[in-house]
Amino acid sequence: MNQNISSRDDYEEHYTLSTTEPEKYWAQIAKSYDWKKEPQKIIQGDFNDLEIKWFEDGQLNITYNCLDRHLEKRGNKTAVMWEGNSPDDEHLSYTYNELHREVCRFANVLKDQGIKKWDRVVFYMSMVPELLTGVLACARIGAVHSVVFGGFSAQALAGRIQDCEAKLVVTNDEAYRGAKTIGLKEITDEALKSCTTVDKVLVRKRTHASHVNYDSTRDLDLLELLSQADDQCEPEWMNAEDPLFILYTSGSTGTPKGLLHTTGGYMVWAGQTFKNVFQMEEDDIYWCTADIGWITGHSYIAYGPLINGASSVIFEGIPTYPDAGRFWEIVEKYKITHFYTAPTAIRALQACDLKFVKDHDLSSLKVLGSVGEPINEEAWQWYHKEIGNEKCPIVDTWWQTETGGFMISPMAGITECIPSYATYPQPGILPQLVDNEGVQLEDKTAEGNLCITQPWPGMARTIWGNHERYRQTYFTTYPGKYFTGDGAKRDEKSRYRITGRVDDVMNISGHRIGTAEVEEAINEHPFVVESAVVGYPHDIKGQGIYAYINLNEGAEIELDKLKTEINEFIIKVIGPIAKPDQVQIVSGLPKTRSGKIMRRILRKVASKDVSNLGDISTLLNPEVVDEIKKGAGL
Ligand code: WT7
Repeated sequence: MNQNISSRDDYEEHYTLSTTEPEKYWAQIAKSYDWKKEPQKIIQGDFNDLEIKWFEDGQLNITYNCLDRHLEKRGNKTAVMWEGNSPDDEHLSYTYNELHREVCRFANVLKDQGIKKWDRVVFYMSMVPELLTGVLACARIGAVHSVVFGGFSAQALAGRIQDCEAKLVVTNDEAYRGAKTIGLKEITDEALKSCTTVDKVLVRKRTHASHVNYDSTRDLDLLELLSQADDQCEPEWMNAEDPLFILYTSGSTGTPKGLLHTTGGYMVWAGQTFKNVFQMEEDDIYWCTADIGWITGHSYIAYGPLINGASSVIFEGIPTYPDAGRFWEIVEKYKITHFYTAPTAIRALQACDLKFVKDHDLSSLKVLGSVGEPINEEAWQWYHKEIGNEKCPIVDTWWQTETGGFMISPMAGITECIPSYATYPQPGILPQLVDNEGVQLEDKTAEGNLCITQPWPGMARTIWGNHERYRQTYFTTYPGKYFTGDGAKRDEKSRYRITGRVDDVMNISGHRIGTAEVEEAINEHPFVVESAVVGYPHDIKGQGIYAYINLNEGAEIELDKLKTEINEFIIKVIGPIAKPDQVQIVSGLPKTRSGKIMRRILRKVASKDVSNLGDISTLLNPEVVDEIKKGAGL
């Protein structure tokens, strides 16, 4: 077997071997990585015992694979180029040698602060280079990183810090985000009022705003410490199943879950999937527009590209600042060959004047990627024609925080790309469609709930501190199978098309938000009796948030005022990304006799499609349905 997949035949060969003889396949694949001790035990555990372990007796350090092993051949090759929020910002660039030194410096700073193997470090930062080097520095010394996206609120940040019992937080004084600044340090201070485990805060000054407060007993100036730190730090040799990071994500119920990814399997998965799907050549330049605060940034800004010795751009800003040509200006400036973004960004830029695209030379592009939500045909066609000049394959990569890396995706130039299809599974991935009773749909063409039937190296091993919740969430709906929460169709050539979530998880501009979380925030408003939140089709965001709110009897408040106040609660509890797009006041919510809210009806009304509401006779209060329809202007 050729280690690299360079043809359709290679793909077939890899896929077949990976599914018929997984032990043999993965033992062979593991050999293309650098281990302190090569693993002999390859796969243990299954979806019943949930004691899943990959490469268990192997020892490694993932940063050795990201950095050290490239130094001989690629020491002077560019690893990362940093583009700031504003085109006028100073441009920074790091070769592999330089990045290695920066990561070592940061690792020594962490050690000096008493951070040890398995300690948790939370990052709450904008996309400054130190977010990347900080994450890698944790991995260098065996500390566990947990990055919290800079758009989350103090309360959301506090919840995550407390849940993983972090010892240290790294933040910015403020973040630049387009024309705005966000007071990350102030939010961190607020969060830390309710946290008991954090000893120190490292502050990476970005705006140098004078109004930011510093606590001399707790806060330290990160750049100052880095400038004094030694630039050599031996990697800590980790067991393959030692924790690498925790990343929080929303589900249909309860508070966000801290998914735990471990070291060896995750490295192999991030490395393999990046290589196979993007098919980069040595001199290519890669740019993923995501934030390191999401799994996309972990696997395909930080780890995947570096494991493969690629050159990439990381970007601090937003697509529309200073104008809607920003992405294309960056593509031109760095001669990007591989460009990876989200449908919501594509749709937002598609809605702007085409001149923003035409003003730039995009001829360097070879491969385009899409991630985070289903890409609609119109956006796909625009991306293909206007950005890719009809010559670039579009890899529509389907995966999740839980999966660690790509699960179903074309491989650029190797397998076909068709609008709105994620197409074929990666080697090692066995997808299965089941009906609502869990019965496997065996016909080639089918539509159902998407499950995966066998463990893969990059899967999350548990929910931090709550293995039972892990079992409950993913493995009980269809016993013995991992249930993704997504629906999918399969065509006659066994290609998969993801249709979207079938559970109570919304996908707002590619951000995953649970309905229950938003409802809980809304219910904090003193006038609210109860609320129900659903997603509905939104031209730019993919899905918007529609909130139905039942107020106390006698509560008198104008809709606009209510909206403003509700937003304040949501901004406080979750963050601005979870603000509802539509609010409707109702006198009751449609409920089944067992008291469950019938969201199906609410989803239909929100999407203005009430032609077929299905059976409502089983409702406890069928009369509210007409009222809700009327209230929505239907
Ligand atoms: C959910 C996972 C994967 C990294 C970013 C999001 C949706 C993701 C696609 C795609 C259709 C997609 C799914 C999935 N999703 N990629 N290519 N086509 N849907 O990670 O926050 O864990 O969200 O995003 O619904 O379950 P996440």
